[in-house]
Amino acid sequence: MTGNDIGFAAQKLREGALVAIPTETVYGLAANAFDKEAVTRIFEAKQRPQFNPLIVHTSDIERVNSFTTGISGVLEQLATTFWPGPLTILLPRNHMIHPLVTAGSDFVAVRIPNHPMTLALLRNLEFPLAAPSANLFGRVSPTTAAHVEEQLGEKVSYILDGGNCAVGVESTIVKLKNDGVVSILRPGGVSAEMMHPILGYEPEFSTPQGDRPEAPGMLKSHYAPKIPLVLGEVAAMLEKYKQQRVCLITFSEGIAHSSVIRNIILSGRGDLHEAAQQLFSALHEAENEDVEIIIAERVPEIGIGIAINDRLERASA
Ligand code: TXA
Ligand code: MG
Repeated sequence: MTGNDIGFAAQKLREGALVAIPTETVYGLAANAFDKEAVTRIFEAKQRPQFNPLIVHTSDIERVNSFTTGISGVLEQLATTFWPGPLTILLPRNHMIHPLVTAGSDFVAVRIPNHPMTLALLRNLEFPLAAPSANLFGRVSPTTAAHVEEQLGEKVSYILDGGNCAVGVESTIVKLKNDGVVSILRPGGVSAEMMHPILGYEPEFSTPQGDRPEAPGMLKSHYAPKIPLVLGEVAAMLEKYKQQRVCLITFSEGIAHSSVIRNIILSGRGDLHEAAQQLFSALHEAENEDVEIIIAERVPEIGIGIAINDRLERASA
């Protein structure tokens, strides 16, 4: 069931049920973060392996102290600058957070999302919400209530419909390394450039991306559409796959070619924020077209473009 009844969503969550919630990045599949059984249901519904930990969402920085050992120094500066917003910060957890939420880690990923309905919901609740993106494991993330309905409609008690997600790619995940330097585990809505003024340096990407990466969601194959996606130089790709029915995803300009059934342009005015907003909708649309292959091109590798290219990379076969 889909609707905009925040009270009903709260009631379901208090009962330990799963509710899909809108955020500015993507929709989340939420449950009471203090309730082990409720959290277990998230992993079951998503078919997500339990080694992949969940982000915990709350409404106020004061509340973060109730389930972590606190936030201070440079991380607090990042939090006060970017929260509510698309930044997730790893903090030492306290006993309120079951190890299932963090996949056994002593650190919990925390964020205050920037969506009026979800903030109202979180303020209403006595507990924070554990929520991964509301898609099946490994599939394309949802940026509309309809996307959630398509993949998880049967498995959630309620979908809180907050419209289209404004940012469109997931939050940036950061952690403080032992040497006091902040590093990025996943590029997202807050770019490295945006953190520069606060940190005095541009945080670097921490890159261990093997079988067991530091943010386990950074597994290489992720965001996979149902139809194979290839990424690269469009003209060469079109030549290579000219015998196939193609859905083409381009950044700012359309490209005509006999094998292209549909060309989705992410931002006609070449705006990276608009492209981020459109990205997952484009992938959802492309995988529902009657085509054999999706060809996509990279966007400029700056600002939020880095997060867009990261998702395209992971979506590619
Ligand atoms: O924008 C977002 O972050 C969205 C919305 C719903 O908030 N959430 C989201 O969740 O993208 P998910 O589960 O799809 O991705 C969370 C990522 C995964 O890569 C996971 O491995 C990592 O965060 N993560 C979560 N907790 C962690 C922890 N304690 N330590 C390291 N990585 C963690
Ligand atoms: Mg996800």
